[in-house]
Amino acid sequence: MARVLVLNGPNLGRLGVREPDVYGALSYTDLVEAGRRWGSELGLDVEVRQTDDESELVRWIHEAVDTRSDVVLNPAAFTHYSYAVRDAAAQVTKSGLRLVEVHISNPYAREEFRHTSVVGGVATGTVAGFGFESYRLALIALA
Ligand code: DQA
Repeated sequence: MARVLVLNGPNLGRLGVREPDVYGALSYTDLVEAGRRWGSELGLDVEVRQTDDESELVRWIHEAVDTRSDVVLNPAAFTHYSYAVRDAAAQVTKSGLRLVEVHISNPYAREEFRHTSVVGGVATGTVAGFGFESYRLALIALA
């Protein structure tokens, strides 16, 4: 069964509490459960993780390369400025694996600093603006 790491960056552990008008009322635990469910529906071995730590996120992306796992990545605020996350993401796609950048909200409809993604240019594709469905759509694309 193909393995997919669903990796989430800073503040996404606060889903449900953090700006529910933007990110919805569902919690991070709900996202973990949904990921498991979607994985079994799609025949994928899905593992959902979250960290507020850039170096941990970079290490998990390296792990995806080393274990030949595709990646669904919501880099959260790192999207907009982390060249370290971008360079790690590039290793995924350059090694023939796929990496889908996802966002719960549509960053292009928000503040100007969110209009830049330093990750998008090395991703296989991007899904944004569909709430938790963004993750499901990314998994469908990988399946
Ligand atoms: C986000 C959008 C980012 O701009 C923001 O910093 C996040 C979440 C999203 O999923 O909509 O933390 O990645």
